[in-house]
Amino acid sequence: MHRPLTIEGLFPAGRLRRLGGHVDHYPQIDSTNTRLLAQADVLPDGAVAVAELQTAGRGRLGRRWHAPRGAAVMLSVLLKTTAGSSLLEHAAMLGAVAAAEAIETATGLMPRVRWPNDVMLSGRKVAGVLAESRTAAGEVALVLGIGINCLQQRGHFPPELQNSATSLEIESPRAIDRLAVARMLLERIDAWTVDEVDWPRLRESWRTRCDDFGVFARLLHNGDEYVGVIVDVLENGDLTVQIEHGGRRQFAAATTTRIWNT
Ligand code: BTN
Repeated sequence: MHRPLTIEGLFPAGRLRRLGGHVDHYPQIDSTNTRLLAQADVLPDGAVAVAELQTAGRGRLGRRWHAPRGAAVMLSVLLKTTAGSSLLEHAAMLGAVAAAEAIETATGLMPRVRWPNDVMLSGRKVAGVLAESRTAAGEVALVLGIGINCLQQRGHFPPELQNSATSLEIESPRAIDRLAVARMLLERIDAWTVDEVDWPRLRESWRTRCDDFGVFARLLHNGDEYVGVIVDVLENGDLTVQIEHGGRRQFAAATTTRIWNT
């Protein structure tokens, strides 16, 4: 169901507790993350940027993120915090849990999460999170950007993503209301961030949606490849892996690439 992500539609009862004091809805923009990072000094905490089309949408590790106009939820929120805040290291996990919860509530589908920041349906990626930050005058501007594939059909994905990406519309027997997904996403981010984030609860929510434990993973870190079994995710979001040739190691999402065989 294509309805534009208007400010009135996203915030029908006005601003939420933390999010929505300032909202920009862009028919077209380079990237909502880029825009909020650039304007962080002048925008208030809780500002939201939402786009119908991104011409230079960005994913993790310099990858591109693209969706046809009006097909995906593409939004970013600005969360102002202080250096050393644990919000910074947990942001990707928070974004993935909020996206999974939003999809569950708005569609009835039951997504899974995959370290570090992927939200999955039927083993394919349906949503991703890009958390970036900028520090100025002792204040840290955290921008949490989330993309959820909603209305795409298989042919909308480029050939290299046909087997690894999916959308809510592909996975659901019912029509998808993209606006409801976006509204729910903002509500869930607001609920997790309005007070001090409850990290044990967030981690538990992430773990119950994760099928990674006990699974073999190939990881690229500082130019070296590691193969091992995923043991756990620590409270700071790092992955603990039992390496094939001995020893346990921890990997931080910001410096590690997970290699997929597909
Ligand atoms: C990933 O899976 O690598 C992260 C994808 C994040 C995409 C979202 S869409 C809204 C926001 N703006 C961007 O340029 N990227 C994020």
